[in-house]
Amino acid sequence: ARLDKAGHKHFMSKEIAEQPRAIAAVLDAYLGESGAALALPAALDVARAERVLLVACGTAYYACLTAKYWLEQIAGIPAEVDIASEFRYREPPVAPGTLAVFVSQSGETADTLAALRYVQGRAAQIVSVTNVEESSIAREADLDLQIHAGPEIGVASTKAFTAQLSVLLLMALRAAEARGALDAAALADRLSALRTLPALVTAALETDGPLKSAAAEVAEARDVLFLGRGVMFPLALEGALKLKEISYIHAEAYASGELKHGPIALVDNTVPVVVMAPRDALFDKTVSNMQEVMARGGEVLLITDAAGAEAAGETVWRRIVLPTADPMLTPILYAVPAQLLAYHTAVAKGTDVDQPRNLAKSVTVE
Ligand code: G6P
Repeated sequence: ARLDKAGHKHFMSKEIAEQPRAIAAVLDAYLGESGAALALPAALDVARAERVLLVACGTAYYACLTAKYWLEQIAGIPAEVDIASEFRYREPPVAPGTLAVFVSQSGETADTLAALRYVQGRAAQIVSVTNVEESSIAREADLDLQIHAGPEIGVASTKAFTAQLSVLLLMALRAAEARGALDAAALADRLSALRTLPALVTAALETDGPLKSAAAEVAEARDVLFLGRGVMFPLALEGALKLKEISYIHAEAYASGELKHGPIALVDNTVPVVVMAPRDALFDKTVSNMQEVMARGGEVLLITDAAGAEAAGETVWRRIVLPTADPMLTPILYAVPAQLLAYHTAVAKGTDVDQPRNLAKSVTVE
């Protein structure tokens, strides 16, 4: 009975809408009673880890890429990320003191499981981040952190992604606390910002209307480019993945700074360019990238906050405005419009949103 669409046309739109609740479930699970302290399992040994290795496939891989920014910036711990199928066959050395993290919604992805088995006996600790407690990956890890997203039916991952991000952010905060990178007051500030996340995500769902209208035009495109800088770069990758998975439109993502090293050659008035950029320290650099796109006729769909929308002005094709948020939270918040854009574009094209061709929810074969 829980697996009905609850009035939604597709599981994907239901699962997008469930995100405030899914994130609240993560906060309930990993913040103490009062919500004022981190309550990750004591067995999670981030204090002694010298580095973190994160390995996954697909959307979970992009969650890992985002976590690299958090681990480095918030906790000051070196982090490395790899695609499971590359990692397992490359058979790289695993440095002593490595905390190895495997992220998988299903907990059954064959390449991720094989990568986990490869680090057994090599890594200091193996942690999994999954949505299925009795899955192979959860069982074979030293410690499993559940993402508590509930069943995800749509093949294109949505609520599992933001729940994975939420768990990984908590892990980065725990590492920062354990290593003294954040003192008690700074940590308390971060946690109070974090507690606003479900409400921020609820507000982000209100971009549905403007994105539906933009999607009607994006649906006509043959190629779409996504750009992001810093922690928004993995989000651009995820936005492009979502769009290709369900609308079958070719989409590519680049770090904004790489625009001039290739993708700018593709830009003309037939290529929408989705720019994900809150008004942060890197915003001005992104504005100049947008100007380069617009000078070549490219239509910019800017996903930003109020200050960013004002700074960008009326010249961009579309502005999608999200609530202003602590920079640490923006990857989670900006996932929502990326999902909605893909969803509405696919609906406009009439593709099978929940069961896209050639894709499987869980890839348990090589
Ligand atoms: C498939 C799914 C993706 C998912 C990936 C990894 O490709 O279609 O949505 O991100 O597998 O799956 P996992 O269960 O390991 O997170």
